[in-house]
Amino acid sequence: MIIAIDGPSASGKSTTAKEVAKRLSIMHLDTGAMYRAVTWGIKQSSINIYDDNAIKNYLYNIELYFDENNHIYLNNRNVSDVIRTVDISEQVSIISARPEVRKKMVEIQRKLGREFSCVLEGRDIGTVVFPNAEFKFFLNADVDIRAKRRFSELKKKNEKITFDEILKNIKNRDRMDSSRVHSPLKKAKDAIEIDTTQLTINDQVDKILERIKNK
Ligand code: DC
Repeated sequence: MIIAIDGPSASGKSTTAKEVAKRLSIMHLDTGAMYRAVTWGIKQSSINIYDDNAIKNYLYNIELYFDENNHIYLNNRNVSDVIRTVDISEQVSIISARPEVRKKMVEIQRKLGREFSCVLEGRDIGTVVFPNAEFKFFLNADVDIRAKRRFSELKKKNEKITFDEILKNIKNRDRMDSSRVHSPLKKAKDAIEIDTTQLTINDQVDKILERIKNK
């Protein structure tokens, strides 16, 4: 069973996907974490992010996987924390738009989805990665609410950033993720849209589980 949850940054995808997977006892795959990890790796390797050949060579040799606690590893290093910085958030939309990066990530995601039932969250799961997924959801929320959510998350981690900087980053990522040539962020025609502006995480999870159980 494949459950696709797509939507823009900070729309509540991660927490919702994690909880839905837990309640159904299936795998949760945070595909955004994969794009972030590769962004971190490419930056560390000082590769020119517009050089598709260099990116292709770099990706050929990487090992990217999640452990049982859903920590993400790049070449045996746990990168779960370092990929959540403001710096990576500012670069990830550029790197995730590169065709070689998408090709490799989609390959890994499809392989996992063929082996396990899972909840995949991202931008293109219902449109490109698993267009035949049994269940497709598209989460969205007012941009100010999304920025507030991200702001309070980062404040807890003591990141030095203002609300306005976050709002700007989210708007920028929305624009880049939606307008890129390869696999842009968009709702699949057959996805169920959920506006999370006024919803709690529990509401979101219940709505999704209700749909799944009704089918
Ligand atoms: O979900 P997130 O904010 O952690 O995702 C980080 C970036 O990764 C996002 O700005 C766009 C990219 N991404 C993507 O292009 N395709 C996906 N399936 C998931 C994320």
